[in-house]
Amino acid sequence: MQTPAGQALLARVERELGEDELPVLTRLRRDVTPGLAAALVETVRLRRRAVKKFPAAASLFFTRDGLEMASAAPVAAHTAARFAGLARVADLCCGVGGDATALARVAGQVLCVERDPLNLALARANATALGVADGMTFLAGDVTAVPLPALDAAFIDPSRREARAAARNPEAYAPPLSWCLGLRQGVPRVAVKVSPALDYDAALGDVPAEVELVSLAGECKEAVLWLGGFVTCTRRATVLPVGATLTDVGLASDALGEVGAWLCEPDPAVIRAHLVQRLAGELGLRRFDAEIAYLTGDAEPHSPFLTAYRVREVLPWNLKRLNVVLAAHGIGRVTIKKRGFPLTPDELRPKLKLTGPHHATLICTRLWDGHVVVICD
Ligand SMILES: C[S@@+](CC[C@H](N)C(=O)[O-])C[C@H]1O[C@@H](n2cnc3c(N)ncnc32)[C@H](O)[C@@H]1O
Repeated sequence: MQTPAGQALLARVERELGEDELPVLTRLRRDVTPGLAAALVETVRLRRRAVKKFPAAASLFFTRDGLEMASAAPVAAHTAARFAGLARVADLCCGVGGDATALARVAGQVLCVERDPLNLALARANATALGVADGMTFLAGDVTAVPLPALDAAFIDPSRREARAAARNPEAYAPPLSWCLGLRQGVPRVAVKVSPALDYDAALGDVPAEVELVSLAGECKEAVLWLGGFVTCTRRATVLPVGATLTDVGLASDALGEVGAWLCEPDPAVIRAHLVQRLAGELGLRRFDAEIAYLTGDAEPHSPFLTAYRVREVLPWNLKRLNVVLAAHGIGRVTIKKRGFPLTPDELRPKLKLTGPHHATLICTRLWDGHVVVICD
């Protein structure tokens, strides 16, 4: 598929492929083997799916698993930025090259290690397609067994598929997290990508590290453990695509108080990084319940680290009363959010009497020892 003839076939499939692939496959099989016909169709399908992760997807090569495991381009670029200017770096589990190609844009020599020969071939093809293959070397093998050269820094994104049953057990990663953390014995700077659901304090034990939680478009999908010379703080939350970053270094606030004129939902990266009080200190906000990750304030906060809602009314939780107030405000459509509330949005919604032209956000939560619904614009 990398030859000119293969590229022409891919372009043809791209033009002709619709929902039903049978007509395209039938026509292709007149010209190429059934195996190649299937691979061409699969590649075009995966390229279309990959656009969400890779702006350049139309020229890249994937397998289904390789695409699913690959880091999205904005996240990979953000992580790679800390490798900028380093001469000898490695991606020790390169998959189809999502991170490795981002590293190649900013670092000198990039060694890519991968035990799956197909993934390694696709990583090489993707590096060539993106024009970053110069300075990259590709090594097939088990990274825990191959001798590694002297490196300035290493990146590793262990496979978490095996760990799916035990999503929070990092010893089920391939290679296991303890092996990844051990890399710091021989490499001065190490970055390990992990699940954002990881209990990072337990997993790290006494290993000094900076834990970075990264969200993309409001979803916290990635976490990176920065080790050795990469460490700049203890915890960091980064919000992409904006690129804003908040660390634990700076003023935090334990203030608790009444719900004010604005109710704020911190970005999930801030919550997972345990930086809600730090954000409160940064923006002069307070919590209204020590266990709940909402913030509140009296002036409108402008920050990439939260979504702010203007408070209309705070109601102690009572369905009848809530329906009376919704009717009085003419609220016919609602967005429901909850934290520390007994009903899920799906359980609450059918109980609401919604009539009228207006929209509101209902924030269902806990206040001291009772439950409240905060009606917000
Ligand atoms: C999560 S994927 C990496 C995705 C990559 N960061 C990207 O953005 O495309 C993990 C990869 O590690 C590889 N892998 C797992 N254990 C390995 C080992 N012991 N040695 C080399 N590669 C390994 C898997 O084959 C898989 O391709």
